[in-house]
Amino acid sequence: MSFDDVVELAKRRGFFWPSFMIYGGSSGFYDYGPLGTLLKDNIINIWKREYAKEGAIFLDTPVISPADVFRASGHLEKFSDIAVKCSKCGTPYKLESLLKSLGITEIVKTVDEAAAILEKYDVKCPKCGEKLRNPYDFNLMFRIGTNDLYLRPETAQGIFINFKNLYNYARNAMPIIVCQVGKGFRNEISPRQALIRMREFSQAEVEVFYLDGDDFPVPESHADLSLLRNTGELQKVKVSEAFKSGIIGNRVMAYFLNKTYDILLKLGFKQDRIRAREHDPGERAHYSSETWDFEYLMDGDWIEIVGVSDRGTYDLGRHQQFSGENFQIDGKTPKVIEPSYGVDRILLTVMDSSYYKRDNGYKVLRLDPHIAPVHLAVFPLQKKDDLDRIARGLFDRIRSVDPFVFYDDGGNIGRRYARQDEIGTPYCVTIDYQSKEDGTVTIRERDSTSQVRISMDELIERAKYFPDSFTELFKH
Ligand code: GAP
Repeated sequence: MSFDDVVELAKRRGFFWPSFMIYGGSSGFYDYGPLGTLLKDNIINIWKREYAKEGAIFLDTPVISPADVFRASGHLEKFSDIAVKCSKCGTPYKLESLLKSLGITEIVKTVDEAAAILEKYDVKCPKCGEKLRNPYDFNLMFRIGTNDLYLRPETAQGIFINFKNLYNYARNAMPIIVCQVGKGFRNEISPRQALIRMREFSQAEVEVFYLDGDDFPVPESHADLSLLRNTGELQKVKVSEAFKSGIIGNRVMAYFLNKTYDILLKLGFKQDRIRAREHDPGERAHYSSETWDFEYLMDGDWIEIVGVSDRGTYDLGRHQQFSGENFQIDGKTPKVIEPSYGVDRILLTVMDSSYYKRDNGYKVLRLDPHIAPVHLAVFPLQKKDDLDRIARGLFDRIRSVDPFVFYDDGGNIGRRYARQDEIGTPYCVTIDYQSKEDGTVTIRERDSTSQVRISMDELIERAKYFPDSFTELFKH
């Protein structure tokens, strides 16, 4: 199972590990280590740049909100999962995941339907075998103390309630694309699979505000996408074609499905392990009239990593109603399309998708160089004969133009390559005896393991333009 291997690697090499372990841990919380912190930043930066290219603006709002916000948004009333707790061993289950793990695909919307399904399939506790009964609604919101304050379950509401400020900022021009990246909190019934279902997690959310008639181009698609419709029909098509043929009815939805797919491919995901799946009406969140999840195939299971929803006028409409504020433009409430990215899930699945073992059993993360935490590693071939002094000097020079460089002179050169391969470092630079003679070094590329020799001066010039200047070197 690559998932187990990746989680083991992540912990051992400093990407992420469970939080609070010296006190026994607490499920659903993870720390990012030194490499994970950099990887997460790099993923967020690509996302940010891609939306900045679309003219997006950015926002940063509190993680704690008064209950009024979530009363209006519908989260206090409707943001719940159906749960069931074993009466014998006390294990709580999220019903949807439990049924999925048992191969039961029926969609359950109410507690009564859940009770009927448990009865129909005679569902037993996977831990102790006791018959499961009495399902109940479990609200996922975290309340803070006795105050009427809550931790936000999504970053989106901070954007909606600021619509007027944002509209003024944008000098009354529509459409407006607003992005926020930050923490979300959900009291998940059964946190699991490391970063996949956490109680505190990071979202990178985009709210696209538009009015009917706003000019959105037909998306320019370069790659086929597997689209699984809620009718069960699976098609491999370009999003642009899916829009033209009416599979995706809304032009703004089509544009941002295409944008999301582009970003996932840019992050290094492979086409054959990504699909977009349309929600069944009963599965959609309370604010959505259409949702497509981008899912990643991990160990035979499809995992949601980004949700793209048509929130229509739901949120602005509710906040107008509850606050008395007027968000209308020329008498119309703007509509919203929302691509919502789960940063932690993307980080874990991008590691999973780039993980493989060489024939000799060594582990490699084939991370795209744009997101690799360490860009270059510098090694002296030997820790003697002045090679280490020259390597240190080169390391300092590189660091002045690209600080994401690592120096290693421990152990044999093969082990040093292997250590960098495992954390996804795309290029390793070695100073050898020839370097002393002519000022050249070898650069070894992680995936092909092929090597080229260039001068140290050229290396410094190229380091200024990482990674394209290095990709270019190994093109042929
Ligand atoms: N504002 C819309 C929204 O929050 P969502 O589908 O509930 O939609 C968006 O969440 C993304 O956040 C998901 O696609 C997933 O990647 C991530 N996410 C949701 N719950 C999570 C959890 N408990 N742990 C880690 N990531 C989560």
